[in-house]
Amino acid sequence: MSVTLGMDGFRVTTQVNELDIELVHRFLSSQSSWAKGISRDLVDRSIANSLCFGGFLGKEQVAFARVISDYATFANLVDVFVLPECRGQGLGKALMTAVFAHPDLQGLRRFTLATGDAHGLYAQFGFTAPLYPQSLMERYFPGLYAA
Ligand SMILES: CC(C)(COP(=O)(O)OP(=O)(O)OC[C@H]1O[C@@H](n2cnc3c(N)ncnc32)[C@H](O)[C@@H]1OP(=O)(O)O)[C@@H](O)C(=O)NCCC(=O)NCCS
Repeated sequence: MSVTLGMDGFRVTTQVNELDIELVHRFLSSQSSWAKGISRDLVDRSIANSLCFGGFLGKEQVAFARVISDYATFANLVDVFVLPECRGQGLGKALMTAVFAHPDLQGLRRFTLATGDAHGLYAQFGFTAPLYPQSLMERYFPGLYAA
């Protein structure tokens, strides 16, 4: 799927062969707050086993998002970023519009994500705090890649 959104030529694609995986790895391993130190091999595997969205301005990839899903009942959104120099122009919202409009991600019973401070972005797409937070559990090792 490749869609062009009305954002001065901002284009979102799910074609893996178009992704600039080096850029994605560079951002995640050195600039993200959640995956610092992640290896290229892990990024390669995560992309190979997910539905990925690359956001492009011309030939340059400037945004990324990754969805892990069974494409029937559940999805989890991770690794969302817009490059710092391109933020604040609506590209993050355009990227999320493409993610949540994807035909394979419709009618899911639950769509989850975790965010440090971008609640206001995802609220615009219907996300809320968990209805039953006491029912959610996790095994989480935040510093795993940095160790
Ligand atoms: C979060 C991020 C993807 C947003 O991308 P962006 O292109 O700057 O966002 P947009 O210009 O489309 O606007 C985002 C909207 O969400 C709102 N928002 C709420 N919290 C926000 C936050 N922490 N960062 C950015 N926007 C936020 C903005 O105010 C804006 O609202 P508006 O509709 O009233 O203008 C980008 O800032 C980013 O890459 N941040 C660093 C990585 C990160 O935190 N990723 C999220 C992990 S869950």
